[in-house]
Amino acid sequence: MYNLAAKYIEKKITTPPNLGIILGSGLSEIADFVNNPIIIEYKNIPNFPISTVKGHKGRFVVGNLANREVIIMQGRFHYYEGYNPAQIALPVRVMAQLGVKTLIITNAAGGINPKFKPGDLMIIRDHINISGINPLRGENDDSLGPRFPDMTNAYTPELRKKMHSIASKLSIPIHEGVYSLMLGPSYETPAEIKMLSLMGADAVGMSTVPEVIAAVHCGINVVGISCITNMAAGILDKPLSHEEVICTADMTKDLLRNLIMNFIEQL
Ligand code: HPA
Repeated sequence: MYNLAAKYIEKKITTPPNLGIILGSGLSEIADFVNNPIIIEYKNIPNFPISTVKGHKGRFVVGNLANREVIIMQGRFHYYEGYNPAQIALPVRVMAQLGVKTLIITNAAGGINPKFKPGDLMIIRDHINISGINPLRGENDDSLGPRFPDMTNAYTPELRKKMHSIASKLSIPIHEGVYSLMLGPSYETPAEIKMLSLMGADAVGMSTVPEVIAAVHCGINVVGISCITNMAAGILDKPLSHEEVICTADMTKDLLRNLIMNFIEQL
């Protein structure tokens, strides 16, 4: 699956990327800052699913960003769109095949921690996956990684530390916390958010976890940032909407771009 897709991309690009970036809802404009971008639409890549969500593009952007060769996913695949977990993981495996060693993942998330507010950023320290889905289900591809990968340091401690120091240098306030996956597409109920809170989750979203599992499996170092676009259900006396998510993400995108560009420069 990933071999054919990676070969297709290899033929289109000049320099292999060693840094991957996955951009979440409303956060895709960092890709506009890539120099000499090569755009590869998912729909043209063999074996690739197509992204369908409003606010999500469906393409790779490959090129130079802050003096690094990067491959950016503008638009990702979600379980709620109907894809299976292995399809969601496919782009990460393609990145690994192309030579990516480090992956920056961003997402839009609901804030569970009462200290958070919409527009805040959170470095992901760890995640909770009670969804029951896992992209590694099925026969293990031993050429990619082990049957039972260790998830103790799924979010690479050195990269988290580096992200903190860059944020502090730029005077960008930033939290660190636990991201929990809920599959959606309905937002969570207040009772579910209370459960997640009791479990130790600080934020909730509908992505990231399958990609991180796939990345850890094939030995990629991960750093994740959640953009808190709204407070999760029941935290405030206020209904949730996709419009609010996109609107807050849009307001936060310059801050996030600044953080990520500086982070890449220091890698
Ligand atoms: N819940 C789940 N996913 C989300 C949310 C939320 O509150 N906000 C943005 N993505």
